[in-house]
Amino acid sequence: MKIITVAGARPNFIKIAPLYRAFARRKDRFEHLICHTGQHFDRNMSKIFFEQLEMPEPDFNLGVGGGTHADQTARIMIEFEKIINLHKPDLILVPGDVNSTLACSVVASKLGIKIGHVEAGLRSFDRGMPEEINRIVTDVLSDYLFISEEAGLTNLRQEGLPEDKLHFVGNIMIDSLVHFLPTIERSDILAKLNLTAGQYTLMTFHRPSNVDTRSSLTRLVEMLNRLTRKTKLVFPVHPRTRKNFDDFDLMSKLSEEILTLDPIGYIDFLALTRSANLLITDSGGIQEETTFLGVQCITVRNNTERPVTVTIGTNQLIGTELDAVEKAAIEVLDGNIKEGQIPEKWDGQTAERIVDIIDKSN
Ligand code: UD1
Ligand code: UDP
Repeated sequence: MKIITVAGARPNFIKIAPLYRAFARRKDRFEHLICHTGQHFDRNMSKIFFEQLEMPEPDFNLGVGGGTHADQTARIMIEFEKIINLHKPDLILVPGDVNSTLACSVVASKLGIKIGHVEAGLRSFDRGMPEEINRIVTDVLSDYLFISEEAGLTNLRQEGLPEDKLHFVGNIMIDSLVHFLPTIERSDILAKLNLTAGQYTLMTFHRPSNVDTRSSLTRLVEMLNRLTRKTKLVFPVHPRTRKNFDDFDLMSKLSEEILTLDPIGYIDFLALTRSANLLITDSGGIQEETTFLGVQCITVRNNTERPVTVTIGTNQLIGTELDAVEKAAIEVLDGNIKEGQIPEKWDGQTAERIVDIIDKSN
């Protein structure tokens, strides 16, 4: 069987590495190719993940780069259609909820190619988020819906998707974490940054609702500056956020005590996560990684498509009101921590389950 797995943005690379390994173990049954759309392209948003997650160069790179939603999505579609027509895969696999996920699903669907959505069924119930539109469209077009948590199953059933397409396989991002944990434990990033385990808070922000307007980004800067009285802050800055800091001339307003960094590679980022006293974030994946690692997490969003991280994990969904975020952070730093458990099937075996299902149904 010929399979093309698509990846475009940082979280996708983390999700496809376990699939790459699982298909490599069954080379007799599968020809597996990787298509990078080029949605993310800086070395530290892209290539470093292929290197650290021990994947080869992608077989195809569509090189589309940034743009408006329509522009980016359309360029991915045009280039991906050429790849499909030339290589005629039996199935494409699309992870996550980014524009690359949507674009490639639409192309494959119209060319009659089967689609497997990895991380299907997640819903924030907020169509103001571009990711929610990407999830809904991709799920509706998919032949295999590979689900990471119970809520995904419930959502897809409520939307009337047929039972034989639904596969609760667990969380593929956690496969990467389990596999690379020994390497993560050997990282020397804390020493390099002169940090002490348990004595700093790690933050990431990149949602348009938090970083795209001058007023929201200004309020964020003010809140972070106040928090420096309580703990050391470490802040790897996403390219979207960096651009907005520059456009609004806000970087200079951030306290010098905050350690701002460029985005960092997977191994060092997870090493920093593991030893942090708290994560403050609007990321999807970080809500899951902190739950798996038992690290405290405050999510600066009004909703989450990953509710299990809140119901049984260490994540607290606080909203985008920054006084409330500051209050919640101080409570955690004062020792009022949220105990958590690891959700069902977050065990490092998700990619194997996915490949088994594909193998048995063909
Ligand atoms: C995208 C995804 C989002 C995901 C995030 C992960 C969509 C709609 N959004 O958001 O769901 O959570 O990735 O990080 O697909 N840029 C660079 N260098 C890079 C990457 C991006 O300069 O390597 C710039 C782009 O040119 C653009 C901006 O950052 O100006 C945003 O990039 P884009 O991929 O459109 O959206 P993200 O905010 O990264
Ligand atoms: N990450 C990283 N370096 C960083 C910030 C994040 O390696 O500087 C990893 C982290 O493990 C996270 C993943 O990138 O889970 C997901 O990326 P992001 O938050 O950009 O996307 P989302 O999950 O919100 O779609």
